[in-house]
Amino acid sequence: MKVLIHETQATAVDCVAGLFAERLVKQPDTVLGLATGGTMEAVYARLIALHQAGQMSMAQARSFNLDEYVGLRPDHPCSYWYYMREKLFAHVDMRPENTFLPCGDAADPEAEADRYEAAIVGAGDIGLQLLGLGANGHIGFNEPTSSLASHTRIKTLTHSTRDANARYFDSFDDVPRLAITMGIGTIMRAQEIVLLAFGEGKAEVVAKMIEGPVSAACPASVLQMHRKVTVVIDEAAASKLSLRDYYEAVHPEVRAPK
Ligand code: F6R
Repeated sequence: MKVLIHETQATAVDCVAGLFAERLVKQPDTVLGLATGGTMEAVYARLIALHQAGQMSMAQARSFNLDEYVGLRPDHPCSYWYYMREKLFAHVDMRPENTFLPCGDAADPEAEADRYEAAIVGAGDIGLQLLGLGANGHIGFNEPTSSLASHTRIKTLTHSTRDANARYFDSFDDVPRLAITMGIGTIMRAQEIVLLAFGEGKAEVVAKMIEGPVSAACPASVLQMHRKVTVVIDEAAASKLSLRDYYEAVHPEVRAPK
């Protein structure tokens, strides 16, 4: 696990956008795994800027999002379909037919989850997966105690996750209870993973993910077992790491960019 500790949130975001753009330059037809949430908004804004500056094209890429709420139609303003169109797809050269999310309003959500997993496998699995981090350790919507080998399926959201996402809805009660999410096993098949977290509110879970035991109690800790993960954090999110000095010594270039 490569741990890159940035002085600020802004440079952490630039770093993630840079890694993403670099991968697309190297392999324009990369299968991308995309995330939503507050953390990713700044990354997508940066990617749009890179695209507009002619430094990044997504024209040949395909993308699969991590998750979608069960019961929300793609045009619902709180759906992740809507989020992706607003925050990224409408502003870059991604072809709509190459962007995939689970259908939250599918008549049979379980069958939809199976179909989505098969579509990811059919695409050859994810090349570069972007991840945010839930305060309870979730990745995608794989809540604590999720099977570390799971595939795309329906998960019941915890009260704390619904609470954290209630800001996007009119009220807590409007936040769906269920989501279709890529499984942890699905995510772990990605060739490369870049996880971004910032802010003091994530410090405790960042420490558990990087330095804690690998445990379904903190699903993100399974990333310790992945062969190519880059964790990009700011100083606030790094504040509870025991080996912070070590990570900074391994990657001094992060703090003193050339
Ligand atoms: C979103 C997702 C979630 C978020 C996580 C962090 O597609 O899969 O795992 O990445 O809940 O959310 P924010 O960034 O809002 O703190």
